[in-house]
Amino acid sequence: MLIPTTSARTFAGGKRRARHWWLGGAVLLLAVGTSVQADEPDAEARAYAQKIAIGTCGTCHGPTGNSTQPKFPRLAAQNANYLAATLKAFRSQTRGDPDAIGYMWGMASELDDATIAALAAYYASQKAEASRSGGDSAAISRGREIYEHGIEPEGVPACSACHGADAYGTKDFPRLAGQHAQYVLKQLASFQSNMRNVAVMHGVAQNLRLTEMQAVAAYLEVQP
Ligand code: HEC
Ligand code: HEC
Repeated sequence: MLIPTTSARTFAGGKRRARHWWLGGAVLLLAVGTSVQADEPDAEARAYAQKIAIGTCGTCHGPTGNSTQPKFPRLAAQNANYLAATLKAFRSQTRGDPDAIGYMWGMASELDDATIAALAAYYASQKAEASRSGGDSAAISRGREIYEHGIEPEGVPACSACHGADAYGTKDFPRLAGQHAQYVLKQLASFQSNMRNVAVMHGVAQNLRLTEMQAVAAYLEVQP
């Protein structure tokens, strides 16, 4: 898909740059030709995204998206479509649990579509490093059962049906393999309470008990 010559991106990029402190490098984007593939960032957008990813986002998510702190989700090898969609959800303030509000709304508010696409491509192409091996083995095996088969009497579907047998996700569903258990647990609770308001995951999580969420989170964290 071609972006028209008088691209909203260039215009918005200029406006945003003027009032933001960490996007100084956005000037690079303004020099870029306007006929680009919307979902295939050009070299300069990529270079700029890499700079932000390492210099800004990396403070929390790690330079390659392999965050080591459980509060900060791992982004390495995550699907580009999901990354772009979720960054836009932070930007439009529709992904709204307290940590999303506190950490990511401000971060995403100044990103234009081209930068979001390039950041998504950057993280999607990073290699996921092996995660920690902790976790209680009984919880991990219960988690595996839930992941692969769901919990029929509670109407919980198998996670693998959407997130894939290996939890690498697909074009449309996020990768979960190797994600921090604490983060996964918190997201499941947020889907359940609708603080993170996504109908499909609310349906999945609505009947999950805390121990079941903990189990599936423990399983996912140790997946390579
Ligand atoms: C000060 C710390 C901090 C910085 C800097 C930061 N983030 Fe985040 N980010 C977080 C936290 C905390 C969350 C989890 C929010 C939640 O629990 O909903 C998050 C979540 C995300 C997610 C969602 C991941 C998922 O699996 O759904 C993406 C994508 C993301 N950040 C990208 C970025 C990008 C790109 C930047 C730089 C422009 C950035 N972050 C900068 C703290 C940070
Ligand atoms: C019918 C498809 C479907 C099934 C089944 C499903 N999910 Fe999801 N899941 C999704 C979608 C779609 C998203 C992305 C939500 C969004 O747009 O923010 C998601 C997101 C998530 C996230 C947030 C990822 C992140 O990085 O923030 C977690 C955690 C999650 N799912 C866990 C599970 C678990 C555990 C199960 C099984 C108990 C499960 N899902 C079953 C479709 C599904």
